[in-house]
Amino acid sequence: IFSHVVLAPEDPILGVTVAYNKDPSPVKLNLGVGAYRTEEGKPLVLNVVRKAEQMLLNDRARVKEYLPIVGIADFNKLSAKLILGADSPAIQENRVTTVQCLSGTGSLRVGAEFMARHYHQKTIYIPQPTWGNHPKIFTLAGLSVKTYRYYDPTTRGLNFQGLLEDLGSAPSGSIVLLHACAHNPTGVDPTLQQWEQIRQLMRSKALLPFFDSAYQGFASGSLDQDAQSVRMFVADSGECFVAQSYAKNMGLYGERVGALSVVCKTADVASRIESQLKLVIRPMFSNPPIHGASIVATILKDSNMFREWTIELKAMADRIISMRKQLFDALRTRGTPGDWSHIIKQIGMFTFTGLNSKQVEFMTREYNIYMTSDGRISMAGLSSKTVSHLADAIHAAVTR
Ligand code: LMR
Repeated sequence: IFSHVVLAPEDPILGVTVAYNKDPSPVKLNLGVGAYRTEEGKPLVLNVVRKAEQMLLNDRARVKEYLPIVGIADFNKLSAKLILGADSPAIQENRVTTVQCLSGTGSLRVGAEFMARHYHQKTIYIPQPTWGNHPKIFTLAGLSVKTYRYYDPTTRGLNFQGLLEDLGSAPSGSIVLLHACAHNPTGVDPTLQQWEQIRQLMRSKALLPFFDSAYQGFASGSLDQDAQSVRMFVADSGECFVAQSYAKNMGLYGERVGALSVVCKTADVASRIESQLKLVIRPMFSNPPIHGASIVATILKDSNMFREWTIELKAMADRIISMRKQLFDALRTRGTPGDWSHIIKQIGMFTFTGLNSKQVEFMTREYNIYMTSDGRISMAGLSSKTVSHLADAIHAAVTR
């Protein structure tokens, strides 16, 4: 009865890892998925995470009972504080409801399903380009997806004019997806001044901001700095949705730890929204898992562990910046045609190289370098030892 089922293609990002795993070459390099690697090319578990896990393990009072539908209360409070700021009036006035979800994806999905049920506008505008999973998440949640211009391939920077025009002509009340920082895949963010213009435009048209915060701490190396865009929108007392992920900044990828916060106008609305979010979550995954969120809560509530985390986070961000510099220098040394300054200008985990899908295919075939077909490179997967191999491949791809 299932013989009609067709074989689905691999996921455009996670499928890159599948192909990489099948390649027997000793020089193969996985620059597809945005996952941090050490200089030795190994996945990293932060020391502070190990320490938190040890503490949890030693605590014999801990049990494996179900969590409440909204997850761990401490985790939720601390997550809202992390993104909105410790002194956020919205938190003090109890106008924020936060629910623990399955990393960024799960938080976006829960927020989107809530909007599809309870918000009068069903259209969400997402940047062009954006993370490949975004349109799928929102469509399946029941929203209709449109795009706004974001990236200008000629400058390899922000198409700010296009962005303002497109949001300016979006129907009033539309939802707008914004990457809080370190835009994926382009590595191009608006300046604070541009964010302010975006905020003014959106508020004047009653467009509803839905922030995806997957890289807090990875753009500037500072958690507060990377939350500026979100905090600007919260400071004006308007509504705002924020999806947070701890996959990258705490390296908790597979633990699936995230949070959805809804900033409301009043405490009363916030508690009613929370009651409805529970109705979204219960039939979706019932209640969230304990382990990852316990690690996060342990670290966020202890000032020493928090400090240790920020140091380890900064070290990851700095290593990526150093990879940018090394790759840029390596291409310059080779005299590779083109202006590669965007490699050092773009921020976060990725470089949006401008290489086309044919060139990417060539690099995979001839150099065993795995990356997404849109030319995005995960700089976090690169090390001093592998930069020259990548530079050779890029050079060959653009000069052939
Ligand atoms: C990425 O863009 O590589 C990450 O967000 C991982 C993922 O789930 O796609």
